[in-house]
Parts: sequence; C-alpha cells; structure tokens
Amino acid sequence: MKIMITGAGGQLGQDCQRVFGATDQVSAFGHQELDITRQAVISETVGNIRPDLIINCAAHTGVDACETETALARELNVSGPRFLAESAACWGSLLVHISTDYVFDGQKPITEGYAEADEPRPLSVYGKTKLAGERAISEVTENYIILRTAWLYGIQGHNFLKKMLKLNHTNPSREFKVVNDQFGSPTWSFRLAQQIKNLVEKDARGLYHATAEGVCTWYDLADYFLEKMNVPHRLVPCTSEEFPTAAVRPKNSILENRRLEEAGINIMAPWQDDVAQYTAQFAEQLLQSVAA
Ligand SMILES: NC(=O)c1ccc[n+]([C@@H]2O[C@H](COP(=O)([O-])OP(=O)(O)OC[C@H]3O[C@@H](n4cnc5c(N)ncnc54)[C@H](OP(=O)(O)O)[C@@H]3O)[C@@H](O)[C@H]2O)c1
Repeated sequence: MKIMITGAGGQLGQDCQRVFGATDQVSAFGHQELDITRQAVISETVGNIRPDLIINCAAHTGVDACETETALARELNVSGPRFLAESAACWGSLLVHISTDYVFDGQKPITEGYAEADEPRPLSVYGKTKLAGERAISEVTENYIILRTAWLYGIQGHNFLKKMLKLNHTNPSREFKVVNDQFGSPTWSFRLAQQIKNLVEKDARGLYHATAEGVCTWYDLADYFLEKMNVPHRLVPCTSEEFPTAAVRPKNSILENRRLEEAGINIMAPWQDDVAQYTAQFAEQLLQSVAA
C-alpha cells in the first residue's frame, strides 16, 4: 500500500512510520517538508503520490497555547484536515485523522466513559478546533477513519512523562504537585499506530475512540512511571484549581473504545502494561534526553 504521513516528526507520526514502514511504501512529511495549512501544496503532493492512505498526525497540540493562538489553531486543526480530506477525496485515498478526548466537557461521573455517540461539548479552543476538524472531514468525504485518543506519549517529542522525568530527575528531593482530579487513559503512540494499522486492514470507516484500557489521574500516571524508571520522587497530589492552566481541561477524559469492541478489533492494552513496556524499551534513551 502507498501511504502518506503528515506531521511525521511528532510522537504519533514517528510511530506510524515505524509500524507502517515495516510493510508498506511510506512517504513521510515533517512540518518543514509539508505544511498542512497550504492547500495548493497539499493538493500537488497528494496528486503526485496518489496514496492509498493518508495518515494526518499534524496538529496544533499545545492545548494552553491554543487559547491565545486561535487563528493558528483553526488553520492547523480545521483548515489543514479539510484540505487533506479534499485531496484524499479527489484521488480516492482513505484519510486517517486523529482527534481528542478534549471534545467532551468531562461532566459525566468518573465511573462512566464517553462513547462515540455521546454529544461533544468542548471546553477549550483546542477541543473546539479539533471537533471542527472532525466535522470538516466528514463534510467532505465518507472515506475516513477518525480516532479520538487521549494523553498521548511516545519516544519522540514532548509529553507529560518526559516533563515529569526531567523535573524529578533534576530535583530528586523537591516536592512537585501533580493534578489528581482529572481522570483519563494514558495512551502509547506506538500502540495507537498499531491500532490504526489494524483498523485499516479491517477496512473500517468512521469515528472510533482509541485509548489505553483502564483509568488513572495525572498523579497516578507520574507516580507509576517514575517508579518504573527507578527515579526518586516526592509527588504531592493536588486539584485542578491548585494548578491553574490557560485552557480548562475536562475532569472526566475517559473514552470507551466502544466501536472497536463492538467490531472485535480493540487491540489497546491496559495503560500500566504499555507504560511498563515503554520504560523497559526506552529507559536509557529517556534518561539521556532529560540529561541533555
Ligand atoms: N499529545 C496528546 O496528548 C494528544 C491527545 C489527544 C489527541 N492527540 C492528537 O493526536 C495527534 C498526534 O499528536 P502528537 O502528540 O503525536 O503530536 P505532536 O508530537 O505535537 O506532533 C504534531 C506534529 O505536527 C507538526 N506540525 C505543526 N504544524 C504543522 C503544519 N502546519 N504542517 C505540518 N505539520 C505540522 C509538528 O511539527 P513541529 O513541532 O515541527 O511544528 C509536530 O511534529 C494530533 O492530532 C493530536 O491533536 C494528541
């Protein structure tokens, strides 16, 4: 299969290259090689490659920055996906696009997760633009798979785990407050890339939730990860109010992989297993990256 990946330098972009590169003909474009906000360039590139599949891993993922960079957030999270969908429709390519748990307001009780059919009600500019991106794609084509995922971490780029590692590795005796009233499912970008491949192979179409199995808070996640890394830490659980951020985050970010389950194609693993595998595989590299 001929596959084109955009945002190839990011966490998921790198893992999609790793997973699809083993079996398929992949053309991968980082931000510098292909700007998804440039309609004519997208159209020309897709026309030249004529891919069977386009995987869009590019986005404005700075949740707090999006609150002030609203025009850029719209360009990247709405216009870019629309341009990709138009070109995909023109050449008969399947478009895989990634969305987020932040399309929901998190008002459900913590015992309940959000399924694909639940009404989105985003709280932040990031969530609103990602939802508008989903809708832009579905207005243009039916030949798409949109996966809503959450709390992504990988070996490339920036993420919460790396931030926690750097803080605690550099300051082993210092206390750090970590939010303990937002609940979600930390998802390994490598596992998500495998799930994407699985969906494509099964000829799936439409909207899917795809997060790791099980639920925790940011505090639980940091504590578990630092234990696995054998890094001394003194974490203090706190509330969202004690740790204010520019963007409001949902308290309940739990997604049910309901459509994956119903189709019998849910390969997402418990979050603890994936964090353990991630640390076993990358501990040395992670420590080197925070020491640099
Ligand atoms: N990270 C999470 O916790 C999370 C949670 C839920 C959903 N998601 C979604 O999952 C997807 C993948 O996320 P990720 O964590 O892998 O993101 P990431 O690591 O931030 O990667 C995003 C990539 O997009 C690139 N990019 C930025 N502007 C671009 C442009 N105009 N044209 C082309 N590429 C551009 C970035 O390049 P530069 O860095 O060089 O600008 C970066 O390599 C995104 O759609 C995101 O919204 C992420």
